[in-house]
Amino acid sequence: MINVVSEETIKEQKEYMNQVKEHTKGLCYLIQTMGCKLNENDSEKIAGMLEQMGYQPTQSVEDANLVVFNTCSIRENAAERVFGKLGEIKALKEKNHMIICFGGCMSQEKHIVEKIKTSYPFVDIIFGTHNFYKLPEMLYHKMTDTKKVIDVWDIDGEIIEGLPIKREDTKSALVTIMNGCNNFCSYCIVPYTRGRERSRNPKDIVREIEALAKEGYKEVMLLGQNVNSYKGGEGYTFANLLTDIDHIEGIDIIRFMSPHPKDFKEDVIEAIANSKHVCKIIHLPLQSGSTRVLKLMNRGYSKETFLELVSKIRNRIPDVNFTTDIIVGFPGETEEDFLETLDVVEKVRFEQIFMFMYSVRHGTKAETMPNHVPEETKSERFQRLKLLADRITEEENVKYVGTTQKILVEGESKTNPDVLTGRTETYKVVNFVGDKSLIGKEVLVKIVSQHIWYLKGEII
Ligand code: 5AD
Ligand code: SF4
Repeated sequence: MINVVSEETIKEQKEYMNQVKEHTKGLCYLIQTMGCKLNENDSEKIAGMLEQMGYQPTQSVEDANLVVFNTCSIRENAAERVFGKLGEIKALKEKNHMIICFGGCMSQEKHIVEKIKTSYPFVDIIFGTHNFYKLPEMLYHKMTDTKKVIDVWDIDGEIIEGLPIKREDTKSALVTIMNGCNNFCSYCIVPYTRGRERSRNPKDIVREIEALAKEGYKEVMLLGQNVNSYKGGEGYTFANLLTDIDHIEGIDIIRFMSPHPKDFKEDVIEAIANSKHVCKIIHLPLQSGSTRVLKLMNRGYSKETFLELVSKIRNRIPDVNFTTDIIVGFPGETEEDFLETLDVVEKVRFEQIFMFMYSVRHGTKAETMPNHVPEETKSERFQRLKLLADRITEEENVKYVGTTQKILVEGESKTNPDVLTGRTETYKVVNFVGDKSLIGKEVLVKIVSQHIWYLKGEII
């Protein structure tokens, strides 16, 4: 039975918000978000609460009176970066009477909390992934009795509804549908930081997306560590949810991430094939192409079953494309294993590959496995995989040149304000010259050239 945080508890937090508001006149906040889209969505909820408490947003740490680090544990380098940032911010703390909050996945790791307490004693509030909704209460205590607040829960996790939210984007919205993970892939820290799988009630999700459509949102990205093990109760599945969202008027594009290949069943394939708005690009994390390594990783599928799944989806949805995640240098990975990974990449021809060098995570099963791969070998395999991925991307991009694509205009290009940017239905970035009034609208663009990272187009 999944626990939903009671309305009473959220109401209590809203009362704390009102009390904190009395102390925040002219104060600014900054949230530094690391990690995945789920963390970004949590940060949007944290921003919603902070603004309700009277804080104003700022982009500059120099002006911030409250800084929240919403951290990620997935790989070592994310953790290192956050410690660097904490070190930098220390000098500003006195000057701005700054309150420093440390939350997110890293705060669920006991040794990290110990390290913060001893080496970064200037951090005021430490909260976990399960109780970030209590930030108003924690801030209230920090402001009224100035003591450090450390509150991290070691629980399986609950569902939280009814928090205010300040979304980053005005056209495309992140919507968390489930949280946590029961899979225990041997390299992964997520089951330890995010707790067990729990799904939101479908009615709450549909209501949220209907409201988003009314506000003018055109696109939703459904989020969860393993979206296709979503369970809405009484047999209601992820496929049912996709179908219901597909019928919501005003939502033109539905994306989701991430599904697990082992749970990608017929009903989800059917729901996508029969839908009008579900994006025909599927993120299907491979991790490794070697059946032997996949077994060590505890992934629950083999090279062959992964390739079969890809064929099955392609047969049913002919214009589908795939993106993926791949880890190189998992403990015990041999040259032969790595060649199996390259073989799958050649066969599937992913649109995009998010590639990672294996990074030891404390407390996971892989940590104690034999034959850890030397850093140089990981690095060399990473480069070889990247070369192959770049070659495939280029070959695939060439196929777009001369075609006409429907693009939802996302905004100005980061590097050139005269150029607009958006994505094809297959999630390829397209840049083209156009008037800013088109932002948020759908346009038809003819692709004129390809540039590995983006396609260049002209509005027609
Ligand atoms: N080392 C390297 N990459 C990892 N990932 C997860 N855990 C690790 C790790 N310990 C990658 C996986 C996952 C993505 C979000 O991060 O590829 O799909
Ligand atoms: Fe990082 Fe995973 Fe936490 Fe997301 S859920 S922030 S990827 S550790």
